Amino acid sequence: MLLIKNGRVLGTPFDACDLLIDDEKIVEIGESIEATADTMVIDAAGLWVAPGLVDMHVHLREPGFEYKEDILTGSAAAAAGGVTTMCCMPNTAPVIDNAGAIRNILDRAIEAAVTVLPIGAVTMGQNGQELTNFFALKAAGAIALSDDGNSVQNARLAYLAMELAKDQDLLIISHCEDADLVQNNALNEGRVSRELGLPGRPAIAEELMVSRDTMLAAQTGAKLHIAHVSTANSVEIIRKAKEARVNVTAETCPQYFTLTEEEVLKQGPLARVNPPLRTQNDVEAIIFGLLDGTIDAIATDHAPHSVEEKARELTEAPSGMIGLETSLALALTQLYHSNMMSIEEIIKLMSTNPARILGIEAGEIQTGAIADIVIFDPDEEWTVDPEQFKSKARNSPFSGMELKGKVKYTISRGRVVFGN
Ligand code: DOR
Ligand code: ZN
Repeated sequence: MLLIKNGRVLGTPFDACDLLIDDEKIVEIGESIEATADTMVIDAAGLWVAPGLVDMHVHLREPGFEYKEDILTGSAAAAAGGVTTMCCMPNTAPVIDNAGAIRNILDRAIEAAVTVLPIGAVTMGQNGQELTNFFALKAAGAIALSDDGNSVQNARLAYLAMELAKDQDLLIISHCEDADLVQNNALNEGRVSRELGLPGRPAIAEELMVSRDTMLAAQTGAKLHIAHVSTANSVEIIRKAKEARVNVTAETCPQYFTLTEEEVLKQGPLARVNPPLRTQNDVEAIIFGLLDGTIDAIATDHAPHSVEEKARELTEAPSGMIGLETSLALALTQLYHSNMMSIEEIIKLMSTNPARILGIEAGEIQTGAIADIVIFDPDEEWTVDPEQFKSKARNSPFSGMELKGKVKYTISRGRVVFGN
């Protein structure tokens, strides 16, 4: 048995109460629960006790790129960040495009500190040419389908994919960028790309695909989730689609409500990510989209790369940044401590809503529920030091940043997987 004492338990009317866990489940929540002899006790006085975070978008790099990250190190990073469930993207080598590959991830994930749910590819090898077997992927345990890293460029194939996904009741997660408009360019097209004399990835490359895919979702009735929204106009397109009752949801990531393209001037390749960091106007529109419910979720797009890879030239380095160990602190710092959002609203975006979108039992604290819990101090200040991360990777653009809000314990299926 595990007893959490005197915490501010989210979803209860008490300023402080106790929560008892037996095996995998929450068995009692109350104002004063007595510990028995064999009970482990966590003193949560002054801390919040919330449902564990559900991160819909991470790259665990296994199989094929274990030098960047693997399922176990990625899971340790998740635990340190308060994440108890995460969905891993299929852009591995080989690509997770068949039932056997899904089963391999699930087998490996048995040993992981947190729950790992694999996402299958939409097209074979994510090459945009031939659809995968949706039925077989779903039967093997794929939680959703995505060609993340790329959009399915061919509209006919994207249309067909949504029709099939609708039939199979599968969620499609769409990385929205028109390949011809972005090519392999490194940063947003705008002030900074002009200053550096480099070709950029224009906002409209994202917005065209957001438009296309929301229209295809409207036409087919498929469940569509837009990954890593980064522009003001994307937010507006999704807002309109939701008003028209299209079956669409959306996520953004901490980098898109915290950083702008200016970061590329300061940090070079560490600030390289797809879609790219944009402008202050976009940052504000993203935050507004989170506030008015247009954007349903905060995910990380945790994208580990090696030190050597990120040491290359801006134009040669791979895109992506890690985020599992900073996401809650960034949300608290940027959205809660700025008085824009309550802690309840942040947990909704990082746990309850993603759980609902995925259709999984998570994201709420109640008696009888699986004990997936994050315990955090919303006011503790700390400085980001990637050398301390559990992740294999160090490519955080938040290194040296002072954040307010710290994960103290993470409990996954009743087991303490992180705690100091
Ligand atoms: O910056 C990115 N990195 N964006 C993606 O969509 C893929 C990711 C990766 O896999 O590194
Ligand atoms: Zn991604």
